[in-house]
Amino acid sequence: PEQLVAFNAGGELYIGEGEDGQLVITSDKNALAGYARRFFSLNKDQLAVLTPKQLKLYNQDLILLEPNWEKMEVNVEELSKGVFPHFMLKEIFEQDKVVAETINSFLTTDEQIELTPEFLALEPLIKKSSRLIIIACGTSWHAGLVAKYFFAQLTNLPVSVEYASEFLPETIDSSDIVVAISQSGSTADTIRAVELAEGRGVKLIAICNVAGSTLARLADICLLTKAGIEIGVASTKAFTTQLVVLLLLAIRFGQIKNTITKELSSKLISQFKEIPRLIKEVLLRNKYIEDLAEKFSSAHNFLYLGRGLNYPIALEGALKLKEISYIHAEGLSAGEMKHGPIALIDKDMPVLVLAVKDEMYDRVINNIMEIKAREGRIIAVISGDDENITSKVDEVIKIPETNNLLLPFLSVIPLQFLAYYIARLKGANIDKPRNLAKSVTVE
Ligand code: M6R
Repeated sequence: PEQLVAFNAGGELYIGEGEDGQLVITSDKNALAGYARRFFSLNKDQLAVLTPKQLKLYNQDLILLEPNWEKMEVNVEELSKGVFPHFMLKEIFEQDKVVAETINSFLTTDEQIELTPEFLALEPLIKKSSRLIIIACGTSWHAGLVAKYFFAQLTNLPVSVEYASEFLPETIDSSDIVVAISQSGSTADTIRAVELAEGRGVKLIAICNVAGSTLARLADICLLTKAGIEIGVASTKAFTTQLVVLLLLAIRFGQIKNTITKELSSKLISQFKEIPRLIKEVLLRNKYIEDLAEKFSSAHNFLYLGRGLNYPIALEGALKLKEISYIHAEGLSAGEMKHGPIALIDKDMPVLVLAVKDEMYDRVINNIMEIKAREGRIIAVISGDDENITSKVDEVIKIPETNNLLLPFLSVIPLQFLAYYIARLKGANIDKPRNLAKSVTVE
């Protein structure tokens, strides 16, 4: 009684101390805010024994150690919902700002991509490398899938995108480059896969939102997203900032491998700098999606379809809906419909189709006709004023036109809103959905 023992067998563990000397243990440092004025990291194989009166810290040989206390820096604004009813909504609305901050953190004043000396040291290997392997889970995995299309268009590098939990280290060797993506930097599946990859001698680039996290520490190079603390379990602003870093990385790889011209990269970067303004435009259309949500909140199932760059966005839209509203949703490549899932379509099946004007547009229109012929209820996300689609579908959500490569930054936002407003109508616990944790620190 009155004794708590903590042992770090791998991953992250923090011990915080409050004003009155009370001690708190957590695997997520942000959770200490409001409870602790200082904290220290309990490192791997260290043991802490906590009683109401004292704290003792030992190494694996049971030698007593002094904790390395750090002051708890808290940005109160980041930790409060402000005027918003949920963190998720606040975080959706922060995307124009955090995307701009992430872009700017990697660009010089003359709009060149500036990376660290560690990255420069890796460039000879990038020049020679013949494959990129992206490892991640959940929403971060979807960001990796979008990146596959970025790299296909800007470099000649084959990219394979692996679920961290399904990663097969046998298939890689030291000429591969691994990119691990994780908001928290402490997802156990991702950390385990990265350790296995490092065991094969590969170089590791991490894209991470938490400086000092396990992943950030394991990586040869850590490229930080500037999303700020993400509290809602459903990841939103972390996703769009991960896309920023991945696109800049693809451009940089293209420059190193001479697969894109100077003109193309300058044009793309200047269009990219316009994206925060266009995100803002989409954010200001939230009321329209709130109204739309009312028409669909009683659905039991949902399909999300996209092709090319917008296929991973369909997966992401479906994940958002299922995790916070508990409606069964499936994201699919629109091209795969005819190979089986089309059998699900009837008048009770809402189908959200990403039908933006990109290379896949004509084929997506065909898919829309196939669904309509089977009486599916279609919501289409369209770019610009697309009269052609408006007459063929039940509802449209408009996003602005931009370079095709940049459309995912805009098309994902209405899907985040739709999931949010449907979940709110259902009275769900949006920021803490059942059975889920913000960082999944177990395998
Ligand atoms: O912190 P990570 O990016 O590694 O987390 C990965 C997933 O657990 C996470 O994206 C999860 O899928 C989100 N809840 C999705 O909204």
